[in-house]
Amino acid sequence: MQTLKWSFRPLPFMQECRERYGDAFSVKFATFERPMVMISDPAAIKALYKERSHGLPPGREVILTPIVGPHSLLVIEGADHLAHRKLMLPPFHGERMRSYEPLVEEIVDAEIDRWPLGEEFAIHPRMQAITLEVILRVVFGVAEGERLQRLREVLTTVLEETASPFAQLTGLVSRRFGGRGPWAKFEKQLKAADELLYAEIAEHRARGGFEERDDMLSMMMAARFEDGSEMSDEDLRDQLMTLLLAGHETTATALAWTFDLLLRHAGPLARLRDSLAEGEEDYLRATISESLRLRPVVPLAGRRLSVDLETDDLHLPAGTDVTPAIWLAHTRAESYPEPFAFRPERFLDDPPDTYSWIPFGGGIRRCIGAAFAEFEMRIVLREVLTRCELHKASPAPEKIGRRNITISPRAGTPVVLTSRHPAQERELLPA
Ligand code: HEM
Repeated sequence: MQTLKWSFRPLPFMQECRERYGDAFSVKFATFERPMVMISDPAAIKALYKERSHGLPPGREVILTPIVGPHSLLVIEGADHLAHRKLMLPPFHGERMRSYEPLVEEIVDAEIDRWPLGEEFAIHPRMQAITLEVILRVVFGVAEGERLQRLREVLTTVLEETASPFAQLTGLVSRRFGGRGPWAKFEKQLKAADELLYAEIAEHRARGGFEERDDMLSMMMAARFEDGSEMSDEDLRDQLMTLLLAGHETTATALAWTFDLLLRHAGPLARLRDSLAEGEEDYLRATISESLRLRPVVPLAGRRLSVDLETDDLHLPAGTDVTPAIWLAHTRAESYPEPFAFRPERFLDDPPDTYSWIPFGGGIRRCIGAAFAEFEMRIVLREVLTRCELHKASPAPEKIGRRNITISPRAGTPVVLTSRHPAQERELLPA
């Protein structure tokens, strides 16, 4: 019953638990052998994320390894994990990211030009198209051509196959029963994706000159571990699949939620447009923080305790599975006055706090793409709001559903585009 509630009504289920049990409680998911302790008090979250030796969250390795592979940053641990993080971080640094801006802008503008005028369409799939293209061209460094088109098709199918909350379960079940059915079909797609990825890696190697190239694959190829060795092709393939799986759906969903919130809140929308017209981005950053607070797309980012966790109120022994309930942490009245209101202003003077604002998790496993996701979101929001007049197709708030690991807008956030400026004549439309 708890698994069903979590799958289909995650936020009301969390709220019920908070009302009954307070800041900490445990949930028994059908797929995990141990109960999962959920915490939302920043002191407990700090105690959890400050300890570097805790293990992976339960289930992550079993569910993700068949897709991302055994070398993936998402599933490796200890010294291997730290060495890989060190090698993979530089492409995500601020200076580097700024060099991606023209390409991301071009991708967003091309997508906006495809939107129908005066007709209802769901914005979530349009955001997925943008974030997939950004991963393929900025992260993988694939040039326009046949391989890019094949990768778009094959990876879209792979991602769709893993989308429903049951897909991963049925995948696991069918593997256990001889690898037939949906899992076999999925494996065929994954094999096709692998062939394309290995071909891209081989082409990158043959071309060389990694130091002069901007894409993240080239940077990972140029980087060396402390012992002077480089990433193998298998390692690179697993990290590419990891960046795709971790960075595509999450960013697209965060964008869809931000549009859902903005288009239903005229005050913040008008203020955002005014600030963009003045070339100012503080309110844009605050809007993104507030959207990720109210609609954290990844609901859990847990650990298996390697040592006891102690706070004034909690004692959890080593071996316990613990995760922040991210939405509960973000809607604690003690941390955020009027916790359910959409008020970007709250982050204008006070930047988000490390342990009460955790859409990207925390500690040594904190999302490696956090700054990149926010950078991409800023460009998309800026381009769309300065070029387009968009309206919600219905005034009702979006219902919450589950896709992959995310909490996602169930109807895909239907909108109507009533006017559009050409990219080169971008100017601010009235709010
Ligand atoms: C709004 C968008 C995103 C959200 C909400 C998000 C959220 C998260 C969360 C909650 C975690 C787990 C952190 C933990 O266990 O403490 C994570 C890990 C990760 N994310 Fe993101 N993410 C986003 C975008 C991205 C992007 C754009 C990329 C890369 C292109 C990315 C790559 C990763 C990777 C590689 C990890 C594993 C880090 C590790 O285990 O060391 N994410 N993300």
